[in-house]
Amino acid sequence: MNQENYKKLKELNLSNMAAYYQDYNDVKEFMSLDFDSRLSVLLDFEINARRNKKITALAKKANFKIKPDITTIDFSPERNLDKELFSKLTSCTWISQCKNLVIAGATGTGKTYIASALGYRACMLNYKVAYIRVPRLMLDINISKADNTYNILMNKYKRVDLLILDDFGLAKMTAAETRDFLELVEDRDNIKSCIIISQLPITNWYDVFFDPTLADAVMDRLRSNSYIIELKGPSKRGILKNDIE
Ligand SMILES: Nc1ncnc2c1ncn2[C@@H]1O[C@H](COP(=O)(O)OP(=O)(O)OP(=O)(O)O)[C@@H](O)[C@H]1O
Ligand SMILES: [Mg+2]
Repeated sequence: MNQENYKKLKELNLSNMAAYYQDYNDVKEFMSLDFDSRLSVLLDFEINARRNKKITALAKKANFKIKPDITTIDFSPERNLDKELFSKLTSCTWISQCKNLVIAGATGTGKTYIASALGYRACMLNYKVAYIRVPRLMLDINISKADNTYNILMNKYKRVDLLILDDFGLAKMTAAETRDFLELVEDRDNIKSCIIISQLPITNWYDVFFDPTLADAVMDRLRSNSYIIELKGPSKRGILKNDIE
């Protein structure tokens, strides 16, 4: 190996390429390639390593609670999950079109799982994603009002390409919570995408908001610009057995 070239690659911050250059210098198959092919292998290695690092960073920032395996999604008919729609959603075109996705269904039907799978997919395609449960979001907003970081917090959630709001509708919102929620959803309307997840059927969402007029405003936007998945069937959670040996 040419030590000077190795040092130059490091100096240029091409450390993955440098590592490959060092490790594969005595591998016969690599050395038997012509110059262009070897250069191409080294460049691909650098590009892939950088891409993977970026995806890992985006996924970490998104704050997912689970890491689903997209290949294990269950499409059995009783779940009411349309394979064609799901596969369309994995392309993430809907995110570039600033559309939303609503996922409703009873507890354990796999709403968080599916949303997280799509969120990971979005990270892989370079979108900035944030996952947060609505009760936690409301708590964080209240805290931010007390320590004067409200704008910083709201801007953080307004800026991401895909905002995943889980567990919407677990409790009725206060007047202030309704206003904060609407500010977030309305500011993102037609500019960024949301996945909103709830155990409540969509027709019951109006009742979650404090003010029916504001509820109308947000529901109108969501309904006109959203894909909808209504999961059905039994819970996917493991059933505790009493007869464990
Ligand atoms: N397609 C799937 N393949 C494998 N495991 C799954 C699948 N969908 C869901 N699960 C598992 O089933 C459990 C329940 O799923 P999840 O947490 O997504 O349900 P949920 O609808 O969000 O429930 P809740 O409304 O209570 O939050 C989790 O442990 C999850 O990992
Ligand atoms: Mg959930």
